[in-house]
Amino acid sequence: TAATVVASTRDELRDARAALSGTDVAVVMTMGALHEGHAQLLREARRSADHLILTVFLNPLQFGPKEDLSRYPRTFDDDLRIAVAEGVDIVFAPTPDVVYPDGDPGVRVSAGPLGDVLEGKSRPGHFDGVLTVVGKLLHLTGATRAFFGQKDAQQLLLIRRMTRDLDFPVEVVSVPTVREDDGLALSSRNMYLTDSDREVALCLSRALTAGADAAAYGPSAIRRAAREVLVEEPLALVDYLVLVHPTTLQDVPEWYRGEALLAIAARVGTTRLIDNTPILVGPG
Ligand code: PAJ
Repeated sequence: TAATVVASTRDELRDARAALSGTDVAVVMTMGALHEGHAQLLREARRSADHLILTVFLNPLQFGPKEDLSRYPRTFDDDLRIAVAEGVDIVFAPTPDVVYPDGDPGVRVSAGPLGDVLEGKSRPGHFDGVLTVVGKLLHLTGATRAFFGQKDAQQLLLIRRMTRDLDFPVEVVSVPTVREDDGLALSSRNMYLTDSDREVALCLSRALTAGADAAAYGPSAIRRAAREVLVEEPLALVDYLVLVHPTTLQDVPEWYRGEALLAIAARVGTTRLIDNTPILVGPG
């Protein structure tokens, strides 16, 4: 297997990309601080294509002024080890001035109404920042297939919408959420959690499981079951708990049967956590 090339400039990326012989190029985009969830994306991407590009870029455009950009974990040496172990051909790890040579871009991708609900409600402009960088990284890498985690369900949906609505020549592939044995969804932000925070944080996945267990009984039973778990943990400050349609993100009505998304955001200690699960609402 060939060596992993690290590119930090546009020229280095272009040269490394031009040296790839195959036609199918998969990309996994990350903000670094890689964990087993990212590794799973890399594995699925590796299997699916001739070549694999990993991007490691902490995108300032998607962080609000009071968010955690400055304390976000940076572990590039470890990230590189994972990239090598997973058979990545090119690691593109640019600095903000490489991605945004003219400073903050005046022209951006607009997420539209789906970017204003759930995460977007608490994080105005977040998804415009995500879609703008994802669009740029798709152009820069020339990837034909891009892998994203179900963990960030709204992000995944919006990236799918962008590639459809704006005719990006790329196939978007989703990967199920990777969890710890106790259910906690892996996240780079879990590094912020103290031991006691971590115990509290388990209520998110427990609430999702309780909701999923009530799937047969309809939307209000699902919401009630999940809410009952969350109210037992007052140290988790719930931002939202919703059962929504997977592509419109609208609350599903009580008569609804079919695929839905049960999603939670909560603050635990100083850390904002999100988690979700797909649920098939209705009897079996
Ligand atoms: P980041 O949070 O680093 O996540 C990178 C990718 O890993 C995303 O597709 C995310 O959904 C996926 N991922 C994270 N945790 C996961 C888990 N436990 N199981 C499965 N997949 C998981 O998401 C971003 O970065 C950024 O917004 C980005 C798309 C890179 C744009 O800047």
